[in-house]
Order: sequence, then structure tokens, then C-alpha cells
Amino acid sequence: MKKITMMTKLLMIAAALTFGTLAYAADPAAGKEKSKVCAACHGENGNSQAPDFPKLAGQHGDYLVRALTDYKSGVRKNPIMAGQVANLKREDIADLAAYYSSQQGLATKY
Ligand code: HEC
Repeated sequence: MKKITMMTKLLMIAAALTFGTLAYAADPAAGKEKSKVCAACHGENGNSQAPDFPKLAGQHGDYLVRALTDYKSGVRKNPIMAGQVANLKREDIADLAAYYSSQQGLATKY
């Protein structure tokens, strides 16, 4: 009986941690503020006009979170972006993704 109680407690803690993280509401307005350093390369609102720098505007939020998380963990390797994400927290990544995904991506003509 005591074992079950302990297990239940652990499960409750795990659930609290999981849902506590998921419960963070990404804030596009905060993301806009945080995106100022990104604009130098990715352009105003994430509409980069330079072919070397990918457009972020209108990209799916999940994709942006994944890309930034992968740069941070080193799964996706790029020396420029590794430096950009080094100090970003989970919340920053969520806010940035919410901001860029809420922007309209403009088409580029070649
Ligand atoms: C000095 C220029 C520079 C700055 C500043 C910069 N980036 Fe980047 N970013 C790049 C380059 C170059 C790539 C392409 C890297 C690659 O090939 O993986 C890239 C790629 C990305 C990608 C992946 C895009 C895709 O389509 O897969 C995301 C997301 C991203 N940057 C977000 C950001 C955010 C958010 C910031 C600000 C915190 C930022 N970047 C700041 C140069 C920059």
C-alpha cells in the first residue's frame, strides 16, 4: 500500500511538471520584442529578403520551436544560429515561434 502511495505521488509530480510546461501560453507580443535581434538577418517581421537567411514569417509555430530547440541542443548544426539560441529559454522560443507564425509570409520573386 505504501508503495502505491509513493508511486501515485511520483505520477502526480510528473503530471504537474508535464502540464506545468505545456500550460505556458506563448506570447506573440513578447516574441516581437525578443525578435529585434533576429531582424538583422531574418528581416522585418521575419520576411527576409536575403536568400542566405530563411524567412520565418508565416512558418508553422511547431516547426519554428523544433528548429530553435534543435539548434540549441546541437541536433541541427549551424554556427550562426547556435550562437543566437544559446541564451534562449523555452519560453523565449515559444514566444518567438508564436510571433513569427502569426506574421504573413511574403512571396519572393526570383
Ligand atoms: C547573424 C544572422 C542571424 C541572426 C541574427 C539570426 N539568425 Fe536565424 N538563421 C540564420 C541563418 C544563416 C540560418 C540558416 C541556418 C541553417 O542552414 O540551418 C537561420 C535559420 C533560422 C531558423 C530555421 C529556419 C528554417 O526554415 O528551418 C530559425 C527558426 C531561425 N533562424 C530563427 C532565428 C531567431 C528566432 C533569431 C533571433 C533570436 C535568429 N534566427 C537570429 C541567421 C541568423
